[in-house]
Amino acid sequence: MKLDSSISAIITGGASGLGAATARALAKEGVKIGIFDLQEDKGEALAKELGGVFAKVNVTDEASVDAGFEKVRAAIGQERILVNCAGTGNAIKTASRNKETGKPESFPLDKFNLIIQINLVGTFRCIAKSAAGMLTLDPLEGGDRGAIV
Ligand SMILES: NC(=O)c1ccc[n+]([C@@H]2O[C@H](COP(=O)([O-])OP(=O)(O)OC[C@H]3O[C@@H](n4cnc5c(N)ncnc54)[C@H](O)[C@@H]3O)[C@@H](O)[C@H]2O)c1
Repeated sequence: MKLDSSISAIITGGASGLGAATARALAKEGVKIGIFDLQEDKGEALAKELGGVFAKVNVTDEASVDAGFEKVRAAIGQERILVNCAGTGNAIKTASRNKETGKPESFPLDKFNLIIQINLVGTFRCIAKSAAGMLTLDPLEGGDRGAIV
């Protein structure tokens, strides 16, 4: 895909880290930028700097993701690029002994599930909705309608 101002991109987790770097790199090529993130201040500031649009989106929340796509597409058009960087991690041992009591403890499943909901289900939610939107686009030279990372 040739990157220029005819292309729109959405970057989830675009307010910081890998997502912000991706947004900056695509904007440098002229691509119109949409940022999804929970961090409103940083996301708004970066969107402003890049002449793009920010939507406060929680990727674990269906309605929030739908509203984000609606807002960003209304501003910059249907995205041809989606880059998923929204995510987080936790570092907890699968099993360990409590430091005070010595009692064996296992990984808290609620904390495991939270990461799965953000990094896996949230990412796939955005992929599926973006791909559905890309079906409305004409194919580019070479036949692709878009690209999802
Ligand atoms: N940086 C690395 O070298 C590296 C290496 C391997 C994996 N990762 C993973 O890649 C992802 C991005 O890494 P990063 O270094 O850019 O982290 P980061 O914390 O700088 O950026 C992640 C962004 O995602 C946003 N976010 C978190 N939960 C969200 C949610 N529910 N909805 C919307 N946005 C949400 C955060 O607000 C943040 O702006 C993380 O999952 C990280 O674990 C990073």
